Amino acid sequence: MLNVILLECALELVPSELSSIKEIQQHASRRKKSPTDLLLDQSLHGRAMTKLGDGERRGRPDIVYLCLMNLLETPLCKQGLLKVFLHLQDGRIVDVDSSVRLPRNYDRFVGLMEQLLTHGRVPPEGDALLAMKGGSLPQLVSDLSKKNHECTVLAIEGGQIVGMRDLGQLLVTPDQAVVGIGAFPHGDFTEETKDLFSRHIELDSQVMMAWHVCSEVIWAYTWERRID
Ligand SMILES: C[S@@+](CC[C@H](N)C(=O)[O-])C[C@H]1O[C@@H](n2cnc3c(N)ncnc32)[C@H](O)[C@@H]1O
Repeated sequence: MLNVILLECALELVPSELSSIKEIQQHASRRKKSPTDLLLDQSLHGRAMTKLGDGERRGRPDIVYLCLMNLLETPLCKQGLLKVFLHLQDGRIVDVDSSVRLPRNYDRFVGLMEQLLTHGRVPPEGDALLAMKGGSLPQLVSDLSKKNHECTVLAIEGGQIVGMRDLGQLLVTPDQAVVGIGAFPHGDFTEETKDLFSRHIELDSQVMMAWHVCSEVIWAYTWERRID
């Protein structure tokens, strides 16, 4: 089983300190929503976000969208061999049901994420396809790896260089593999996040887009299982 955690996701609602800024108010009025019910988005709120201390790491829901598009509904996911979680920058964890079919349309995805962050789940009633899960990231990594710290892998620039074949073997060998991939646009993981993973691996000498890393991980694992 492959568990992928999208780490420190740049996914949040507009923080209250930006809610009175004109560009945010105008966007909220176009969307007929309150400012703090909107998803924070650098491409729409870039100027306002310069007021946030760590603005360059925040407000990129498109990264989460593209990662999820690459992970979900893959043959591996349809076989029930993939589980995905989102770790938000405020520490909350979102459980993504493996049967979820996310909207292909990005505007509809934004609406769903706003519902998730406002109500804590999607849909608000009935079986949850996306839901806030109690507990912390250290607890999640420990539970998923069944306390076997050896099978926890962090994709990170500057880690140990690993080719696709070795990556597949590394992930398929344990019963449960846990892979962490950053879903933020700039900067590094916090030290706390780095310390949770026993192996730090680099897939290319160049910095990669998070969604390309997701694809490589999925296909390395899928390929290794096929040739087993
Ligand atoms: C766009 S990067 C994060 C920001 C990047 N550190 C920067 O400052 O531009 C997104 C994520 O993809 C993964 N990643 C990027 N390049 C990688 C590489 N060469 N090898 C392994 N993982 C990589 C890491 O998990 C990283 O957090």
